[in-house]
Amino acid sequence: MRILTFIVMMQSLLMGVSISAQTPDFEKMVEYAIKAPSGHNTQPWKFKFTEKGIDILPNFDRSLPVVDGTHRELYVSIGAATENLCITARELGYKEEVSLLTNTKGECYIHVALVKSEQTLFCPLFAQIVKRQTNRRVYTGKLVDEDTLAYLKKIPYEKEVHVYYYKNGNASFNLLKEFVFRGNEIQMTDKNFKEELTGWIRLNKKQVAKTRDGLTYSTMGSPSIPTFIGKPIIKSFLKPKAQNKSDSKKIASSSHLVLFTTCNNTPEEWISLGRSLERFLLETTRMGIANAYMNQPCEVYSLATELQTKLSINGEVPTLLLRIGYANSMPYSPRKEVKDVIIRKPE
Ligand SMILES: Cc1cc2nc3c(=O)[nH]c(=O)nc-3n(C[C@H](O)[C@H](O)[C@H](O)COP(=O)(O)O)c2cc1C
Repeated sequence: MRILTFIVMMQSLLMGVSISAQTPDFEKMVEYAIKAPSGHNTQPWKFKFTEKGIDILPNFDRSLPVVDGTHRELYVSIGAATENLCITARELGYKEEVSLLTNTKGECYIHVALVKSEQTLFCPLFAQIVKRQTNRRVYTGKLVDEDTLAYLKKIPYEKEVHVYYYKNGNASFNLLKEFVFRGNEIQMTDKNFKEELTGWIRLNKKQVAKTRDGLTYSTMGSPSIPTFIGKPIIKSFLKPKAQNKSDSKKIASSSHLVLFTTCNNTPEEWISLGRSLERFLLETTRMGIANAYMNQPCEVYSLATELQTKLSINGEVPTLLLRIGYANSMPYSPRKEVKDVIIRKPE
C-alpha cells in the first residue's frame, strides 16, 4: 500500500500536479468559471492551482487583436470568469479573497485565495451560472417594470464601475442606437475586423465539436451548414446595411440598453467590470430577463470618445453596451474541457 502511494506521489510530482485534497473542488470551480461569457467565445483564460488558491491568467494566444487591441474585452471576460469562480467557491464552502497582481512581463492577473470554511455559505446566484446565456433573438417588446429596474440598480458593483439604463424610446436610447449603426458602418467595412470575426464563426456541428469555442451557428439562430455553403452566406451578411437592418429590429424589440463604464480604463478596472457584469447577468437570468451585446460603439474608439461627452456619464469610459428584454431561450455555446484550461506544469 505504501509503495502504491509512493508511486502515485512520484507520478503526480513528475506531472507537476500538487497532491491536494482540494483539487476536485478547485476543478469544479474552474468548470463553473469557464461558463462565463467572453468576446467571440474565445475563452481567453487559463487557471493554475497553487497551495493557497487559484491563479486566473489571461491567455493572449486567444486574444482578438483587431476588435480588442488593448485586451480590454479579454480582461472583462476573465473578470466574469473570476466572479463565477468566487460564487462556486462559496457554494462549496470556501471563503475567497481576490487580489489583482502583475507578473514579470507587466501583465495583470488574478489570484483567488481560498480557505475552506466550516459554514455553508448561501449563494442564490450559483444556480444561475448554468442558465445564463447571450440571447441574440428579436425580443418580445415587453418592458422591464420599474420595481425590477429599481432592484437591478441596487446590485452592488465593484469600485469604479458604473451602470446606466436607457429605456426604449428615450433620447439617450435613440442616440446609442445611432451609434450602434455608425459602429456597424465602420466595422462592417473593415476587412481585418471581418476576417477576424469570420475566423471565430463555427458553421456546423463538425467545427463546433473540433474547436469547442467561437460563435456557433445555433447561437446565431442558423442551421448547421457545410463550410463551402456557409462562407459566402456569412460574407453577404457582414455588410453595414444587413447588420443595421438586423440590429434595428433587435434594438426596437428590447426594453432597455444598459451601459457599463469604468473611470480610468485600466486592466484592474476591466476585471472589476467583468465581475460586476457577471453579477448583473446572473441576477437578470434569475428574473427571466434576456440579454445580448451591442458593443460596437464601445469598441470603435472614435465613437466611444464621442459618447463620453454626449451621454451624461461624468466623462467615464463606455466599455460594454447590452440590450435587455424578454425572449425564449437559445441553444447554449460550447466550452473547452476543464483539463484543457488548467496549467499543470510550472510555466
Ligand atoms: C467583453 C465581451 C464582449 C462581447 N461582445 C459581443 C458583441 O459585440 N456582440 C455579440 O453578439 N456578443 C458579444 N459578446 C458575447 C459573446 O459572444 C458570448 O459571451 C460568447 O459567444 C459565449 O456565449 P454565452 O454568453 O451564451 O455563453 C461579448 C462578450 C463579452 C464578455
